[in-house]
Amino acid sequence: MASRSKSAPIAKPHARRETPAVLVVHGPNLNLLGEREPAVYGSTTLGQIDGQLKGLARDLGLTLETFQSNSEGAIVDRIQQARGKCDVLVINPGAYTHTSVAIRDAIAAVNIPVIEVHLSNVYRREPFRHHSTIADIAHGRIMGFGAESYSLALRAARTVAEESRRRSG
Ligand code: DQA
Repeated sequence: MASRSKSAPIAKPHARRETPAVLVVHGPNLNLLGEREPAVYGSTTLGQIDGQLKGLARDLGLTLETFQSNSEGAIVDRIQQARGKCDVLVINPGAYTHTSVAIRDAIAAVNIPVIEVHLSNVYRREPFRHHSTIADIAHGRIMGFGAESYSLALRAARTVAEESRRRSG
């Protein structure tokens, strides 16, 4: 099997992209937003959130992809696919926030800055929601603003992408 020579340059993840690319991942049960516990999560549907994010991404000069799955493995697969193709990952892992070592490991493996998002302020809720498996490897966390948490995260994602571009020249 051919191996890459030691001196071969390692491609910078975003070297070929004009505009920073952001992937937004929504975890389990977030497909039910709008109907699901509206007193906690609000009445905005996931389709509306993604639509608002697309408009905001255009205004901010970002390329945006969104993805939702109820399955932990599918979320791990999608994060892996983003390796080298995405500048910032915005993720609301839903209930997997509190349990998933697999999602944490995927994030650590792809080495993409992550912004953790929650609609609700998990610290005002049950103690089991206070632990996040990704909090200590996230660039930052935004929670408690309902659907607006995502817009705030997308604005933050642009700042993070710009900073990392400046750093890597
Ligand atoms: C959530 C909070 C989690 O505790 C919960 O399991 C969710 C949604 C939020 O956005 O507030 O599914 O991530």
